[in-house]
Amino acid sequence: MQRIVERYAERTPGSAALHARARRSMPGGDTRTIVFFAPHPLYIERAAGAVMADVDGNDYLDFLGNYTSLVHGHAHPAIVEAISVQAARGTAHAAGSEAAVELAETIVDRVPSVNAVRFANSGTEAVIHAIRAARAFTGRSIVVKFEGGYHGSSDTAEISVDPDPAEAGPAAAPVPVPEGPGIPSGVVDDVVIAPYNDLVSTEAVLDRHAGRVAVVIVEPMLGAAGAIPAEPGFLRGLRELCDRHGAVLVFDEVITFRLAAGGLQSRHGVRPDLTTFGKIIGGGLPVGAFGGRTEIMDLFAPPGNVLVQSGTFNANALTMAAGRAAMRLLTPGEIDRINRLGERLASGLGGVLHEAGLPAQVTGTGSIRSIHLSGEPVTDYRSKARGDSRPLRLLHLALLAEGVFAAPRGMFVTSTAMSERTIDECLERFSRALAAVRSELAAVTGA
Ligand SMILES: Cc1ncc(COP(=O)(O)O)c(C=O)c1O
Repeated sequence: MQRIVERYAERTPGSAALHARARRSMPGGDTRTIVFFAPHPLYIERAAGAVMADVDGNDYLDFLGNYTSLVHGHAHPAIVEAISVQAARGTAHAAGSEAAVELAETIVDRVPSVNAVRFANSGTEAVIHAIRAARAFTGRSIVVKFEGGYHGSSDTAEISVDPDPAEAGPAAAPVPVPEGPGIPSGVVDDVVIAPYNDLVSTEAVLDRHAGRVAVVIVEPMLGAAGAIPAEPGFLRGLRELCDRHGAVLVFDEVITFRLAAGGLQSRHGVRPDLTTFGKIIGGGLPVGAFGGRTEIMDLFAPPGNVLVQSGTFNANALTMAAGRAAMRLLTPGEIDRINRLGERLASGLGGVLHEAGLPAQVTGTGSIRSIHLSGEPVTDYRSKARGDSRPLRLLHLALLAEGVFAAPRGMFVTSTAMSERTIDECLERFSRALAAVRSELAAVTGA
């Protein structure tokens, strides 16, 4: 362990120095919790395509893409051009723009369940507004979310994202666990937790709260919990349960919209009432959006709107220009291509881990994949939580030393900036990184 940390530290003195400086003005030198890792996070100087360079001149193949948002890699020329042109024309105007109209049309055209859409500045905001709309529409207050589901950093969303299973109640009837102090008990009281991929238990949850559930919010594939796909029939079952209970069904496609032109919902053939978006639709700039059925979205329609949705930078011209350029580039053919690259990557990663004799699962679908160093299939939060995440953190540092930038939790994402050669190069580096930490991993996993 010590050797790997030292190797990383030796290669990154410039990042260490910047981090020491950052600690003087930001708590722990950090301003985005997920970006921090010990001994110090990386500081990036520039990036283009699939490659990032840190301040010490080390190159990395970027298999994270700012947590799935950079579907075209870094600094795609067409997106840089769109941003440059718009920057020179003004970045935000407190007025509409043609780019925003086109981006909205693209989402409405591609996602059959979305009749109308509104923009925000993050996925977090999109979820906040979708939940508020659902509550206003139903006149009810309870939110059903799934254990391990991540929907951003609002009070309501940050419940049972990564709870200690010892505190989270029975697997079939989890209790809500706030992610930390500071979330009012009144908020917790209105959130009910269900187990992912378990329709029978979810039905029991809805029955228990019959007449009071405003919304069921679900990721069509658990993202932050480790790329755990919905099993066939699960999302359709949720649709039926929501219909029966008069609850609004929200699919959070902030991550999964990159997996199919119509979002992952199109693969499952299920139409939610509302969908939240983010990440890729901003072309690399901050963004969020939510949309769905006309009757619900019309609550926001002026004049006489029932709901207000403000935001100084909502649909700002710069993000909209970047997002429009990115979505024009993201043709169904390109989506298929990066999904195939994801398949090549997943089978390669699985092969290398298998050859190393380590218990491992590679989960996910298409362009989003996650490694779990666990002997049992990972199908929900509890099965994921039974795995030990320490070895993945070790592997992450070893990967950085080999020039692969992936998520510390083991997530790998492909982009249109990659080819099969990029994948094969990644697999070679992965193999070397694994060899460097094989004995430590075996000690932790018991292999
Ligand atoms: C499924 C999902 N919903 C919501 C969010 C929050 O988006 P943002 O980070 O833009 O607030 C994320 C972020 O990773 C996400 O994965």
